[in-house]
Amino acid sequence: MIIDTGCGTGASSCTIATSQPHCAVIGIDKSAARLGRGELLDQPDNLLLLRANLLDFYPLARAAGWRCRAQYALYPNPWPKAAALNKRWHGSPIFPDLVALGGQFEVRSNWRLYVDEMKLALAVFGVESEVLLIEPLQPMTRFEAKYAASGHALWQLRANLDHATPPACG
Ligand SMILES: C[S@@+](CC[C@H](N)C(=O)[O-])C[C@H]1O[C@@H](n2cnc3c(N)ncnc32)[C@H](O)[C@@H]1O
Repeated sequence: MIIDTGCGTGASSCTIATSQPHCAVIGIDKSAARLGRGELLDQPDNLLLLRANLLDFYPLARAAGWRCRAQYALYPNPWPKAAALNKRWHGSPIFPDLVALGGQFEVRSNWRLYVDEMKLALAVFGVESEVLLIEPLQPMTRFEAKYAASGHALWQLRANLDHATPPACG
């Protein structure tokens, strides 16, 4: 199973599902309006676009023992104010659940600090990651296309979550 977290219209979920026809792909977003635009896409049979709040979804998926082959978090809202750190996925209460689902993890952002923070947060779970400038770019999402057209540098973090170890509580 592959999860496309905060998938927006699900365009990236479609691309992923088409390229991995033997794997179930779930694109998840809380916005009915964005997912509604995805209904116009030509959706392959192995794709489910799901309206859900990820703050509910991740703890439930972990409790049910779900494991992923891959997870994508493409252009999450950056929540740039310091006070909003707990709204970024790596500062959110569901981050340990996301990590526990495992798989290849890919994050993309036009905000370098977001992926650098994510790298530090993953290190707490013993997960090494690499941060790369995306070049050449084949836009996977509407936001990616928009940022690229505006000349933003676009960043990608990649990590393998399969051997993550929860940090000891102190
Ligand atoms: C900046 S958009 C990026 C959408 C898409 N990945 C893209 O690159 O075009 C972030 C998306 O995350 C979704 N989102 C944010 N918080 C969420 C949550 N708690 N549960 C589900 N979706 C969420 C928003 O509805 C929005 O569609």
